[in-house]
Amino acid sequence: MVSEKLRLTGKALAFFVPYGGRLLMRRATAVQHRWTYQATPNAKNVVVLGGSYAGVALAKRLVETLPTGYKVVLVERHSHFHYLFNFPRFAVLPGYEHTAFIPYDGLAKHAPKGIFSHVKGTAVSLTDSEVVLSSGEKINYDFLALATGSMQSLPAKVVSTERDEGCRELRAVQDSIKSKDSKNIAVVGAGAVGVELATDIKTFYPDKNVTLIHSRDQVLNSLKGKRLHDYIVPVLKELDIRLLLNERPQLPPGGGVMAGVPGQPLVLNLKSGEEPFDLVIACTGQKPNSKILATLVPGAISQETSRILVKPTLQICTADEHDGPSSRRIFAFGDVAEHGGPRMARAGYFQAEIVLDNILSMIHGEPASSTYVPRWDFEGAIKLTLGGAHFVIYSRDSDASDILIVNKDGKLDLDIADAWKQLGVDIKSAHAPPPTHSPPTDAVAVN
Ligand SMILES: Cc1cc2nc3c(=O)[nH]c(=O)nc-3n(C[C@H](O)[C@H](O)[C@H](O)COP(=O)(O)OP(=O)(O)OC[C@H]3O[C@@H](n4cnc5c(N)ncnc54)[C@H](O)[C@@H]3O)c2cc1C
Ligand SMILES: NC(=O)c1ccc[n+]([C@@H]2O[C@H](COP(=O)([O-])OP(=O)(O)OC[C@H]3O[C@@H](n4cnc5c(N)ncnc54)[C@H](OP(=O)(O)O)[C@@H]3O)[C@@H](O)[C@H]2O)c1
Repeated sequence: MVSEKLRLTGKALAFFVPYGGRLLMRRATAVQHRWTYQATPNAKNVVVLGGSYAGVALAKRLVETLPTGYKVVLVERHSHFHYLFNFPRFAVLPGYEHTAFIPYDGLAKHAPKGIFSHVKGTAVSLTDSEVVLSSGEKINYDFLALATGSMQSLPAKVVSTERDEGCRELRAVQDSIKSKDSKNIAVVGAGAVGVELATDIKTFYPDKNVTLIHSRDQVLNSLKGKRLHDYIVPVLKELDIRLLLNERPQLPPGGGVMAGVPGQPLVLNLKSGEEPFDLVIACTGQKPNSKILATLVPGAISQETSRILVKPTLQICTADEHDGPSSRRIFAFGDVAEHGGPRMARAGYFQAEIVLDNILSMIHGEPASSTYVPRWDFEGAIKLTLGGAHFVIYSRDSDASDILIVNKDGKLDLDIADAWKQLGVDIKSAHAPPPTHSPPTDAVAVN
């Protein structure tokens, strides 16, 4: 374990020392930019569509770097930033859910006047120069960066665009899990969301019978980490979670969190036969939000994955255009794009830098030449909670070498205050919306 920590520290230093130098340079440039940027009435728009991990990372960098004559418009349908990392925990453990919705107010706190605007709205279509919103508003763009991510059902994501409704959705999941009628719970899909959720349910409600059902022979198979699987399986056993591998039951219609009614459980078809459950929670993965491109460049949507095809410069492309030069002013990155890297927030941050470099180059009349090369060890590294205070950090490099570090001192709120700080707001301003029911009380305290 000590040597694993040393290896991780060594890797981090090798990466972050030069990166830290770049960060310092960036800070200095941002200060200078604040003094030199001038708002102009006819500034051209760089529109970032999607204000989650990837889109916000890009918007924050654009406000530090765009030259006079350009400005950033962030279009996002949510009233608040949805801090998804904590959704599985806050869908089980009551009392924290309101902190997972972070106001956008702090995003451009230090930005020069006039460089940034945030439009709350849903984009419904694109032309080659405009983003059209459901309200009918049209936003002109000179450059467009698509960071529309993916759809997932509760508890990975909420449907509501408004914070209070989002809190209510998470509370409804807490209530379904807590309910005395939910004795036998099936979590379907043992990706990161399913594993985090199942281990939290069993940790905070040890009397529930929890079954984790997965389609493959390895949990979190997309990370290809056999060692991670070998660590997780005994943890599940110790928590008394029943793990069924190589099972792909057809789910009842509805998806997300599905409760049976007393006397009428939900039935899953397993290899051993039909099995009744009181509550079935589907954690079966993502569907990319790529439809927005369907009329403008339909060939840029992958027929296999529905993700947006991109060149290494992260400019959108059709399958035929992948290898040639491109003057397209539309980029896609983060979970919606077929970029070859991990579907993790950190990958979105690094991709945002590539998009930024290329937009700035093109503004200055140069071709887009920065290219994205995934760094799996950093961008794909995962901090996976395994119930309460227990978590594991796992990083796997492209040469299959890996690092696994176990920690049992995690905070129950998963350090949500740090997320607020990163978004430029103080968590003290977080107020819970009024409960619509009596607060749950019988979750088991851990720590
Ligand atoms: C439950 C959960 C926990 C996770 N935990 C971690 C973790 O601990 N660490 C980690 O690195 N990664 C984690 N991930 C993965 C990480 O969250 C994703 O990789 C990341 O969210 C991708 O960011 P994104 O900005 O590309 O897309 P998304 O987060 O999917 O965001 C897309 C945004 O675009 C907006 N949008 C979409 N379409 C429109 C439209 N038409 N008009 C207006 N707005 C639109 C959406 O409202 C949304 O805000 C987790 C994922 C989930 C689901
Ligand atoms: N702590 C973290 O860093 C963290 C936390 C959460 C999520 N994430 C990231 O967010 C992304 C999404 O995670 P996710 O867990 O939502 O999705 P995911 O990684 O796609 O996992 C979902 C799993 O469910 C399986 N599945 C689908 N239908 C099934 C069925 N009917 N029966 C049984 N299994 C079924 C899928 O297998 P098939 O491929 O066979 O369909 C897939 O392996 C991932 O990149 C993940 O790493 C990270």
